[in-house]
Amino acid sequence: MTRRLPWTASAAVIGIALVGCGEVNTSTFVDDEALADATSGDNWLAYARNYSEQRYSPLAQVNDGNVSELGITWYVDLPDDRSLVGTPLVVDGVLYYEGSYNVLRAVDATTGELLWEYDPEVIEHAGDRLRMMWDYSRGIAFWKGAVYVATMDGRLIAVDASDGTELWSQMTVDPALPLIITGVPKVFKDKVIIGNGGTEFGPIRGYVTAYDAATGEQAWRFYVVPGNPADGFESEAMAMAAETWTGEWWKYGGGGTVWNAITYDPEFDVVYLGTGNGAPWNTKIRSPDGGDNLFLCSIVALDADTGEYRWHYQTTPAEAWDYNSNMDIVLADLTIDGREVKALLHAPKNGFFYVIDRETGRLLSAEPFSKVTWASEIDLETGRPVEIAGARYEDGEAEVYPSPWGAHSWHAMSYNPGTGLAYIPTMEIAGLFSDEGIDVQAWRSPDWAFDGAGVHLFGADTPADAGTSSLKAWDPVEQRAVWEVPLPGAWNAGTLTTAGNLVLQGRADGQLVAYRADDGEALWSFDVGSGISAPPITYAVDGTQYVSLLVGWGAAMTGLGGSLAAQHGWAYKVHPRRLVSFALGGDRELPPSPPPFIPEPIDAPDFVIDQVLAEVGAPIYKGKCALCHGPVAVSGGNAPDLRASPVVLSHEAFVDVVIGGARRTLGMPQFIGLSEIQAGALQHYIRAQVASAPPE
Ligand code: HEC
Repeated sequence: MTRRLPWTASAAVIGIALVGCGEVNTSTFVDDEALADATSGDNWLAYARNYSEQRYSPLAQVNDGNVSELGITWYVDLPDDRSLVGTPLVVDGVLYYEGSYNVLRAVDATTGELLWEYDPEVIEHAGDRLRMMWDYSRGIAFWKGAVYVATMDGRLIAVDASDGTELWSQMTVDPALPLIITGVPKVFKDKVIIGNGGTEFGPIRGYVTAYDAATGEQAWRFYVVPGNPADGFESEAMAMAAETWTGEWWKYGGGGTVWNAITYDPEFDVVYLGTGNGAPWNTKIRSPDGGDNLFLCSIVALDADTGEYRWHYQTTPAEAWDYNSNMDIVLADLTIDGREVKALLHAPKNGFFYVIDRETGRLLSAEPFSKVTWASEIDLETGRPVEIAGARYEDGEAEVYPSPWGAHSWHAMSYNPGTGLAYIPTMEIAGLFSDEGIDVQAWRSPDWAFDGAGVHLFGADTPADAGTSSLKAWDPVEQRAVWEVPLPGAWNAGTLTTAGNLVLQGRADGQLVAYRADDGEALWSFDVGSGISAPPITYAVDGTQYVSLLVGWGAAMTGLGGSLAAQHGWAYKVHPRRLVSFALGGDRELPPSPPPFIPEPIDAPDFVIDQVLAEVGAPIYKGKCALCHGPVAVSGGNAPDLRASPVVLSHEAFVDVVIGGARRTLGMPQFIGLSEIQAGALQHYIRAQVASAPPE
């Protein structure tokens, strides 16, 4: 099939992809029909394969009987990349993926040979956004002949899939605000939609925008929380939502960013948004006289053509713990009590697994899939949680499960219609919440610092044994775990499930593991040489089924996780980043990877710590440096461990890096507003962490 792109009169002809030096005729026209089709498994056309968001592949060449024969058939080392957490796409033998800082590459899906690369030059565009740690994207979109990239600095860009030329670029955020994008653009009906994130860095109000896929022209925008009523509301939905807020919430932005889940449902022609936490998290500041604060922490259904509100279900009314509902929204047809239900499956941070009738938005069932101590149950009559007294830290410090990391975060869950099970990477970590000493009346949103929760957080290290994690196979009809396997540490990657009765998942310890989907028996594992944070995909070319995976330890836990993340030994830039592809009988060997490495703090008796300066440095470090270099300077691998850095011992070298921007092109932001005295205070704070660390 050959069709001409509507927006490029010139060479872009769909149906021809350059593979190696020859030309391969291809046949997939990626449109609504292709994206709704769950039956053909050769391609992986969208973030979670197709519109269902199931991450389920009908391919079964690799199956529970032969998966032990899986081996590497090709790999590409990516030494210049950092975090790699994304899902590649495959269209007719070409694999498209994003490296760090949104560099888009197309490779031959059978060899890894580079076909083209498109670099949106994110570090140059990022400005102060570079301070926000998120150097990665979870994925890209494909529509007709274009690939869509959403850059960390807020641009949405269409790139010609045949040669990597830019077709159009749109700025989707106000560059004056600390908004970033890590989420995946989603395409449907010639529109591409994108949200953003950043609620902890400033006064942020969440929204999504839909653009014309061909031209980049804005089609519609939906705000998630109301703005200042004095300015008038954008829609009836915002007027309705404003009834659920009190005080002067708009001064703090309110939050509700849509930084991950957006699902298009072709059967009802709606878009479901998974909405974010409050800005700030603390309701005493955000909405002091109560209110549910719509549409925070909700699933919001919108008309796909107009962006008009259809219905919502709020998972955590008046959220106070960062319990956003940004996790996957998966479409599944279930039989519940003998009735066929068009259901929506959702396992957000707050620890409950929700099954919702997506025709009506009515909650059908909700049960905890992990340890939960903020609510005892979800009342099915009202759809509301029954909260446990004290959990809102209203009586002082409260230990609450789940933590702000969530019982499940963005690491993708998958759903297998064959087994009827959802496969969820779960975490069980306690959150310690307190706002003691914070003047809730005087509190103001931070100005580009990670300090916007309105509660005390990340002031101390998170010990290696602070949490546990597991892969859970969850029956959404029975609302119970059918099997569970423990996982290392806390930060394990998203899952893939197939008609071959398999579940595949990469783990924090660098093992890619295949389980039998119906009973959880581990059948095969492979050491890829570095911590895994990305989910695998599968596809087929010329009759061979491949499993591909990006390898590159990354995202929030590798910055803020302290010892919980550091325990795996994936120290900054010590271990390889790569794209690996497996097939039955694959016999390539990976170059040996260095063993796990835990940096040794430098012993520097000549550096005499000034405790007063160290105390001045503490809040600066917490707001501006901890996000990447780790709380109390214990790095989880996202950036160098500063306790082991010789740069910290020299004031001149330190100022050159921190204020002078000497390492900006490598991702170390330039802190122009910092004074030399503050830089000195930071040096003393960092060195004081070496002195105060408990002996091994
Ligand atoms: C967005 C993430 C990020 C933030 C925030 C950040 N850094 Fe960095 N920093 C990095 C990265 C990445 C490197 C390593 C760059 C390279 O490869 O050389 C680095 C390197 C450094 C180095 C050099 C270490 C060495 O031994 O080479 C120092 C010193 C440093 N940072 C201090 C700071 C201080 C102080 C702050 C807060 C004011 C800060 N950084 C905030 C990411 C960050």
